[in-house]
Amino acid sequence: MFSMLSRLRALSARRAVRRRGYSSATYIPTAIRWKPCRTNAKAEPSSLLGVHKELCLVSQMHTTSQYVDPLEMKKFQAWSAKWWDEEGVYSALHSMNDIRVPFVRDILMSKSFNHDVGCPLSGVTILDVGCGGGLLSEPLARLGAAVTGIDPLEDNIRTAQMHKSSDPILDKAIQYKSCWLEELVEGNRECFDAVVASEVLEHVVDIESFIQSCFQILKPGGSLIITTINKTKLSYALAIVLAENIMGIVPKGTHDWEKFIPPVELERILESNGYVVETLRGILYNPLSGSWSWIDDTSINYAMHAVKTLADEEPTGVDLENKDEWPKAAEASG
Ligand SMILES: C[S@@+](CC[C@H](N)C(=O)[O-])C[C@H]1O[C@@H](n2cnc3c(N)ncnc32)[C@H](O)[C@@H]1O
Repeated sequence: MFSMLSRLRALSARRAVRRRGYSSATYIPTAIRWKPCRTNAKAEPSSLLGVHKELCLVSQMHTTSQYVDPLEMKKFQAWSAKWWDEEGVYSALHSMNDIRVPFVRDILMSKSFNHDVGCPLSGVTILDVGCGGGLLSEPLARLGAAVTGIDPLEDNIRTAQMHKSSDPILDKAIQYKSCWLEELVEGNRECFDAVVASEVLEHVVDIESFIQSCFQILKPGGSLIITTINKTKLSYALAIVLAENIMGIVPKGTHDWEKFIPPVELERILESNGYVVETLRGILYNPLSGSWSWIDDTSINYAMHAVKTLADEEPTGVDLENKDEWPKAAEASG
């Protein structure tokens, strides 16, 4: 039974590879004010790539961080060479590109007027936090974006680096760095048009600090795009019992239910840190076909898009009487 299911999933993964490719779609343009990057004068500008001239990368060696769970790192270390095996432990992330790449593309296209048809994200700077082996960074770069992918695990970055280096276009459009988000933020305020954190939040130690760092590194008006897992009985049954223990879609121990976050809680954190939540959509994985689809129900997986308020806007969702609640918003925009 399970081997038949695996064969079905493998077949469907191969089909997905063949059909993968992302074209531009209908979008509603709305103007946005994107400011130039605010870099720390003391930090060295990166000379890695022409497209990322303004980004400062802190090059200090790091081994531990209060923001990164060592158990998570140990887990991902074991699979760090397997990112590009489309039928391996990351097969569900490969097929998730079918919905998340157009999702990111359409959101970012809706934020500006001028698009090159073949290169709709041309001129857009994206930070892919927790990029792993670069499964999402690469298709976003192919759409024209200048992508910076960061991951705390050096071996993940090594795999990502090696994979993009076989394609000169990707090699130029993406830069990877092994560091944690909070470290990158130190020298780079208001640098990115968008931050993408796909399937990362459920591995993060301190979600609030993570969200605040995303705020600091985003330009005012920039987009934070998250996909993650809800904390419900159903998500326990499907994402852990079924996916890990019964079907082996991902290895046992991949997820810790305690780290999942309900959308209402994430929305509260986002809004109290100066974002406006614009989109919330449910996502469903079909283990038989190995494919993902959008649904209204957010009780298992979901995607959220939040926008950093512009400098002259007040953060929403906070008690304005209690100014202590929004120092991050004020600091970052001030
Ligand atoms: C499930 S993978 C998702 C990878 C990639 N975003 C994708 O969807 O293809 C989770 C990634 O988050 C990284 N990660 C774990 N803890 C993190 C943290 N605190 N900050 C940033 N990334 C983290 C892991 O190293 C791993 O590469």
